[in-house]
Amino acid sequence: MGKVQELKEEIAQYKAANKDALEEFRMRFISRKSVIGELFSEIKNIAPEERKGFGQQINELKDAAENKFKSLVKELGNQEEEREGQAVDVSLPPLTDTLGSIHPLTIVRARFIEIFERIGFTVSDGPEIEDDWHNFTALNFPENHPAREMQDTFFIKKDPDIALRTHTSNVQIRVMETQEPPIRTLAPGRVFRNEAISARAHCVFHQVEGLYIDRNVSFKDLKHALYYFAREMFTKDTEVRLRPSYFPFTEPSAELDITCLVCGGKGCNICKYTGWVEIGGAGMVDPNVMANCGIDPEEYTGYAFGLGIERIALLKYEIKDLRLFTENDIRFLQQFKSQGF
Ligand code: FA5
Repeated sequence: MGKVQELKEEIAQYKAANKDALEEFRMRFISRKSVIGELFSEIKNIAPEERKGFGQQINELKDAAENKFKSLVKELGNQEEEREGQAVDVSLPPLTDTLGSIHPLTIVRARFIEIFERIGFTVSDGPEIEDDWHNFTALNFPENHPAREMQDTFFIKKDPDIALRTHTSNVQIRVMETQEPPIRTLAPGRVFRNEAISARAHCVFHQVEGLYIDRNVSFKDLKHALYYFAREMFTKDTEVRLRPSYFPFTEPSAELDITCLVCGGKGCNICKYTGWVEIGGAGMVDPNVMANCGIDPEEYTGYAFGLGIERIALLKYEIKDLRLFTENDIRFLQQFKSQGF
């Protein structure tokens, strides 16, 4: 009888937190081999006069176990339903994350290509790690000539020299070596110079090279292309000026300035208080360069230019410091969300 009482209490206290605990309860109190089943088989050993009372007691115990089992099943079912209520509904649409924006340098590069594609230019590519021939020698930079110092170089290896390209003009050579005129191509890309970083200069920046080689190409064609570009990239009344300059690979050579759109020509740190900003260099391809690439300079002439993407983006979006392009400040980048190509 003492044992029956003990089991009654155990049943009353039982808690089933999960299905395994429920099954444990069923095995211990309900199944054929349960403790209650064992008590039933003990009846035959009980004195006949006590048998009835004992039988009643274990029948009550059996009922208590069955009722408890039902209530445990119900309780667990409710808990599961509650858990289901909190479960993730995978069919719901996702929470919208903040959308990124196209980087301003990418916008300018794409716009640049679009403007020149309209007048028949293709896009070419070349390596960022370059040999001396393509970055300097074929471009008419004589060995040990001070002109090489115009662009402070990051060397990777000496003798033979391998360096990070200092301009996209290496692609001019690679194109002329492998293609027959007429050639009309752009080469956008990253370039590297061992220079101090400031608001208007970086040691890693981007240029777009342009090259046009055909019969009878003249300086007039170059001027026309650059004026057309400036009006399309900026505004219809953007002022452009060409200043005489020097590059070993073009003759004559010029530098291309546009009115400073950051200060409207009044003077600021971007235009060094002159009202004009240089955006690139240009000129007629030097006959020596063509000959270096196997193109007959008696038959063909051509122009080339190399413009800085960062400088153009500074002016186009009136940004005062080009370091912002590489800082990855989300607040800066988000301002270009509405800008298309
Ligand atoms: C050149 O790199 C010549 N290869 C351009 C050229 C090509 C001339 C074809 C003739 C024919 P320059 O060093 O001036 O030229 O650079 C051209 C442009 O790149 C500059 O006008 C400027 O817009 C940009 N640039 C130059 N240095 C930096 C710098 N450190 N940071 C950002 N932009 C720069």
